[in-house]
Amino acid sequence: MGDQFVTCSLEDIIVGEPLPATLYIYIDFRFITFRAEGDMVDRQAYDRLQFKKVRNLFVMEQDRKKLMDWSAKREADKPPPLAPENKQFAKVREEVKRKAMDIFQGAHPDKIVSQTLSASKKLVTEVMKFPYATKTLSQLQSYSQGTADHSVNVSVLSVYLAMQMGYSHSLILQHVGVGGLLHDIGKTRVSIRDDDNPQVIDLKMKDHPVLGLKLIESQQKVPNEVKMIIVQHHENCDGTGYPKKLRGNNIYDLTKIVAIANAFDGVVADSKGTLIERQRAAITKLDQVLYRKFDPQKLEKALKILKLGV
Ligand SMILES: [Fe+2]
Ligand SMILES: [Fe+2]
Repeated sequence: MGDQFVTCSLEDIIVGEPLPATLYIYIDFRFITFRAEGDMVDRQAYDRLQFKKVRNLFVMEQDRKKLMDWSAKREADKPPPLAPENKQFAKVREEVKRKAMDIFQGAHPDKIVSQTLSASKKLVTEVMKFPYATKTLSQLQSYSQGTADHSVNVSVLSVYLAMQMGYSHSLILQHVGVGGLLHDIGKTRVSIRDDDNPQVIDLKMKDHPVLGLKLIESQQKVPNEVKMIIVQHHENCDGTGYPKKLRGNNIYDLTKIVAIANAFDGVVADSKGTLIERQRAAITKLDQVLYRKFDPQKLEKALKILKLGV
């Protein structure tokens, strides 16, 4: 007795309060002091543990009761407190459940459609927990609920399309999901003045892909793939897009998927009628009016997949 380590769960930790006992983590087959007695686990450290999916920490056996009593001090039924920006994020996440449901109407009779859809929702819920996604999403939501909803829809739809197109590597799907989620983040940085007329506003809005890239570049650990999706999502395969008028295969492969999902959700949002009617209208518009903007093979596949859903 004396040097036995026992586990304690991450949920037992009260963020920002002095610890009654030393906490250890287990790395490389060794117990290492994580925080000493009297120190505290701050929000950042706690989030990092969660992000790294660390479920358990360790305490010395004789300290376990002390820790549990301390932990019980926290008001019953109260989840670990959220940082202010995360509170907003929790709201976004609730919103996601509803919105993600709206992509296609609830349970779909086709087993593959419903399975893939629920897998993409799960993945998007996961990527929303990435530190840089949490922060930027709450910025998006304070900018406009509509844009936040649109971003979530584009994310789920992009992952769904990618999965149905045969992409299965989890990192690729993550990139698609985060790219979809953050594609319009630059809109929060466009400054519009009260006396700007609609043409001026349209022109200024065209800066959002580049502003989004700048904003995301200031965040740590954002993969290049995600940056490319953000800056390229308004490039068109026929060279009519912005900011660089890129053509065809100069546009990153995954951007092409997000661009289709983005256009689809945009038309759905702007159309009238029931959800299914609006989705059918969007399929027709992409197929017959907007088709030159997209990669022909990807569009063909996407339309087939989308038709399955409606
Ligand atoms: Fe956009
Ligand atoms: Fe968009």
